[in-house]
Amino acid sequence: MAETVRIAIGKEELELPVVVGTESERGIDISNLRARTGMVTLDPAFMNTASTESSITFLDGEKGILRYRGIPIEELGEKSTFTETAYLLVYGHLPTRDELEKWDHLLTRHSMIHEDMKRFFDGYPMTAHPMAILSAMITSLSSFYPYALNAKADEYRDITIARLIAKMPTIAAFSYKKSIGHPFVYPRNDLSYCANFLHEMFAVPAESYQPDDVAVRALNLLLILHADHEQNCSTSTVRIVGSAQTNLFASISAGICALWGPLHGGANQEVVEMLTDIRKKGLTAAQFIAQVKDKKSGVRLMGFGHRVYKNFDPRAKIIKKACDEVLDRLGIRDPMLDLAKELEEAALHDPYFIERKLYPNVDFYSGIIYRALGIPTGMFTVMFALGRLPGWIAHWKEMIEDPATKIGRPRQIYMGPRETHYVPLDKRA
Ligand code: CMC
Repeated sequence: MAETVRIAIGKEELELPVVVGTESERGIDISNLRARTGMVTLDPAFMNTASTESSITFLDGEKGILRYRGIPIEELGEKSTFTETAYLLVYGHLPTRDELEKWDHLLTRHSMIHEDMKRFFDGYPMTAHPMAILSAMITSLSSFYPYALNAKADEYRDITIARLIAKMPTIAAFSYKKSIGHPFVYPRNDLSYCANFLHEMFAVPAESYQPDDVAVRALNLLLILHADHEQNCSTSTVRIVGSAQTNLFASISAGICALWGPLHGGANQEVVEMLTDIRKKGLTAAQFIAQVKDKKSGVRLMGFGHRVYKNFDPRAKIIKKACDEVLDRLGIRDPMLDLAKELEEAALHDPYFIERKLYPNVDFYSGIIYRALGIPTGMFTVMFALGRLPGWIAHWKEMIEDPATKIGRPRQIYMGPRETHYVPLDKRA
């Protein structure tokens, strides 16, 4: 018999169905609560609220499990490529050889942006944050592909998805080139997705450039690890914007804005800035940890803690290992890595962090790898966006293709003044 729960409201008892997920997660279905009782639930920051059913990503924060379409992140990190993982997320299964060839071909063929778009970059100051440029450029793509404006028109959906994934590295790299005053570098069709991105970032017309294999592999890994994380802040943003049947480009642009915040994707930039600051001030790990524990200081150990992971973040484990390997293979000795390890060690043995179940998250070590690849700090959150793009798209597609989707519209509990009246200006105290 299907499970139900009973709640008592005054003298009345209400029986509510329980929805059970494939991994035995249980949620009380309250979708009829207001209609039946006139009451709503209050759950600030959605700490206890599942906003949707989804078949894309499973994560168990207590056990440190993360799987895309059922496949553990550890396996994908070791065996897959970013574009294959993107296909898996978006289309729900690993591509056959033929499907993968066609997919990679699409992602290569559509990597150029309209020449007119190049002029948009001219309007920005050199100091513009690349996330501001990225979000504006992604929503601007909709003006070049007007048939993509109808989110429900499924005949253009696949090509729109491919275009977006293909153009994102070009736009990201152009925003970097703008910030350093270098000419834009056009994509190269003979390179893989990640190799091409490095080429667009670091090649200059004056000399030839060959992306380093170690760097390409490291980039593939980082993008795979960031590719989806179920209903996080930016993905929930994409879903809620998309629930109004907003086109893919605009929905993703909203997700980019959400990701920008320092508590979300902006944390990777904050980690490296924090490490730089600690070194500049000559603080020891213990001194900095003492500052973090002093609530009055307002200082957080960036790259630590997670809303869902309360044991360890499996992505952080993989990245820490990769960090050692990549720096070693590239022959780089980065004092930031030593400091990060000292901070981690100190935090993991400190009751403040133990009691609150605070562990390194995906952002703690990723910035150090990006530095080793030559990617500047200001671009770190753009790198996160590049990785998260297939996840956002998969969620937007899942939502838009579900006939049961309705526009997202939370309720509130109003706490403002009761009815009052307009007072003319000369009668106000
Ligand atoms: N440093 C110091 N204290 C912390 C930290 C931290 N990084 N994270 C949480 N705490 C404390 C917090 O002060 C609170 O203490 P108390 O119970 O005494 O008030 C307790 O731990 C619970 O924290 P919270 O802020 O209520 O937890 P949350 O689930 O709302 O926030 C978080 C999760 C990720 C926003 C938070 O841990 C944080 O701000 N971390 C630093 C920023 C960061 O690294 N963000 C990247 C997240 S992973 C990438 C992504 O998915 O975006």
